[in-house]
Amino acid sequence: MTVLVTGGAGYIGSHTCLELLGQGYDAVVADNFSNSSPEAVRRMKELSGRDFAFYETDVRDAEKIDEIFRNHDIGCVIHFAGLKAVGESVRIPLAYYANNLESTIALCGAMKRHGVKNLIFSSSATVYSGDNGMPLTESSQTGNCINPYGWTKYMCEQILRDTAFAEEDWSVVLLRYFNPIGAHPSGLIGEDPADIPNNLMPYIAQTAVGRRDYLRVFGDDYPTPDGTGVRDYIHVTDLAKGHVAAIQYCREHAGCEAFNLGTGKGTSVLELLKAFERAAGKTIPFKVTERRPGDLPVCYASTGKAAGVLGWRAEKTVADACADSWHWQSQNPNGFNNQP
Ligand code: NAD
Ligand code: WQD
Repeated sequence: MTVLVTGGAGYIGSHTCLELLGQGYDAVVADNFSNSSPEAVRRMKELSGRDFAFYETDVRDAEKIDEIFRNHDIGCVIHFAGLKAVGESVRIPLAYYANNLESTIALCGAMKRHGVKNLIFSSSATVYSGDNGMPLTESSQTGNCINPYGWTKYMCEQILRDTAFAEEDWSVVLLRYFNPIGAHPSGLIGEDPADIPNNLMPYIAQTAVGRRDYLRVFGDDYPTPDGTGVRDYIHVTDLAKGHVAAIQYCREHAGCEAFNLGTGKGTSVLELLKAFERAAGKTIPFKVTERRPGDLPVCYASTGKAAGVLGWRAEKTVADACADSWHWQSQNPNGFNNQP
């Protein structure tokens, strides 16, 4: 089966493409390189030993997307393409709503025109309200998002739920990722933020490699064992496998279903830092600063639905993810383009 992967040159998309190609699927990738690099695509081909069609295009370009559906017999679409930086979404909300909503609507329109009915969407734990108890289950309250990025995911989920309800035989799977970290064990592909990282793991990795002076730990007075924020960090290759499990599910079920992709285990900022120090064999400087506005003390997934229905569970540990992330960062200190 051929899978169209939008945003397939990005961090999670590239790892998922490798998993798909490794499991015998054909992939067609569409990406506008707004937050990724052609070098990632070159390395995906090298690592998989397989060629695949790549289209440099914005998903909102209906003519180009029609061309892809005409050229390939697409059985399923995985829609990763989107803008994802929380802080930036507060500064330029219109760009986030335009990109994330319009790309999803345009893609569904093209799928409808070409009779493609299976869609897997990159959603996020950020769609859950902040006042839920932990762990978060798929029926925990959603909404009350604290930034425009979160609202785009919430709104896309609603658009897709309504579309799956209206369109006969459509199957839409909403995958709510928790905190993806790590890299491909080869060290050839990994996370390569365009600017100063917002997220903890790439910030730690860039500090370890000398690109940042020290990590700022956003608050150590949370009601957690060491006072720092606790999150559910999931290895990106486990996440990739979750998408393959979702394809199987999609082919056998109609409707719209949400699944958490997490580990069910919480790790604090300081625990992640220490795990990375062990993996890198060096001390990483940090300073405790004020809490970051909008941060929850604790966030982790209930994983029972994905295990029971998709037959998928995360297998790798935080230590595995730190080792792989260090492997990637130390071999590619400046990311894919390797320019200081
Ligand atoms: P990423 O930025 O590395 O990948 C997204 C890719 O989409 C990039 O290659 C970018 O160039 C491309 N893109 C963006 N807008 C596009 C458009 N209109 N047309 C074509 N290509 C476009 O991000 P990622 O971490 O791999 O995230 C993938 C998806 O998962 C995103 O939708 C993101 O919101 C979601 N997600 C990510 C996380 C996370 O922490 N990384 C967590 C939850 C959900
Ligand atoms: C993790 C922990 C911080 C950076 C975000 C998005 C979410 C999803 C995943 C896309 C928190 C602390 C962080 C730093 C720190 N993305 N931290 N110093 O906030 O759980 O989730 O990414 O969907 O939508 O909101 O992840 O990696 O930013 O933070 O102390 O420099 O690390 O306070 O406790 P978060 P994160």
